[in-house]
Amino acid sequence: MVGFESFADAAVYRLSDELALVQTLDFFTPVVDDPYLFGQIAAANALSDVYAAGARPLTALNIVCFPSRTLGMEVLKVILQGGADKVLEAGALVVGGHSVEDSEPKYGLAVTGIVRPDLLVTNSGARPGDLLVLTKPIGTGLLLMANKAEMAAAGELEAAVNSMKELNRCAAEAMLVASAHAATDITGFGLLGHARELALASKVGLEISFGKVPVLPGALRAAAMGLVPAGTYANLDYVQQGLVVINEKVVGEQALDVLCDPQTSGGLLIVVPPEKEQTLLAELGRRQTTAAVIGRVLPGPAGQIRLVP
Ligand code: CO
Ligand code: CO
Repeated sequence: MVGFESFADAAVYRLSDELALVQTLDFFTPVVDDPYLFGQIAAANALSDVYAAGARPLTALNIVCFPSRTLGMEVLKVILQGGADKVLEAGALVVGGHSVEDSEPKYGLAVTGIVRPDLLVTNSGARPGDLLVLTKPIGTGLLLMANKAEMAAAGELEAAVNSMKELNRCAAEAMLVASAHAATDITGFGLLGHARELALASKVGLEISFGKVPVLPGALRAAAMGLVPAGTYANLDYVQQGLVVINEKVVGEQALDVLCDPQTSGGLLIVVPPEKEQTLLAELGRRQTTAAVIGRVLPGPAGQIRLVP
């Protein structure tokens, strides 16, 4: 049902009229020093593509690269515990995995989920007039950079870590109740990169209001200090072609650094028809999931993003 062609979050294979298989994998190098938190974040991130499809995760397999001689097996055990605990919180199980010796540690999971084919959510169903709802604040890449440079204020890294380790489960449940037209999760390509993929896949234009996008405390300051991850520039390159900035001065110099900031375990960008806006926000609120309406879907040109203050 879903393969390589539309920048999809997960591969989807129809087993029967009632059941489709959802498969995805993600792994990366540590984003934080604490091995348990790293495990939790890596698992929340890997599960996220299943949630973006409106699916339910069932099983997960660990993917591990690890320097056992220099870091010691105790550290790996704690990383895997963090991952397993997060997968359990998702109502799924870690059922195996594979590890290889590597000088740089890497961890992630391959996740298998299920969805009813008629309830599958993809990034290609957005229609003109729909609204864009984002569930987690952006700026995790900037805060991880600020932390490395020892420029993050007390509490700022903590807020980013808490956001990264949070599952997108509640967001996915809420979007199903609200019959979302489309969704994607915000990860390495940043908000604008994933928004552009969605716009191209749905053959629509998008309008995003920077002033309405929730941003983690400290992220704008990090951008102003030039603590910008390398991936931001690649993301900016990717979106630039279809980007129209309305009132550059008001949008602000740091806006694009934040909007193209590569996210780790970011939130869901959910597309709903206007008559379902209140249902979605109420369902998110009921699940203590913060969200903001950040823009709307335009008839075209396909793939274009209008950025307004
Ligand atoms: Co994704
Ligand atoms: Co992914």
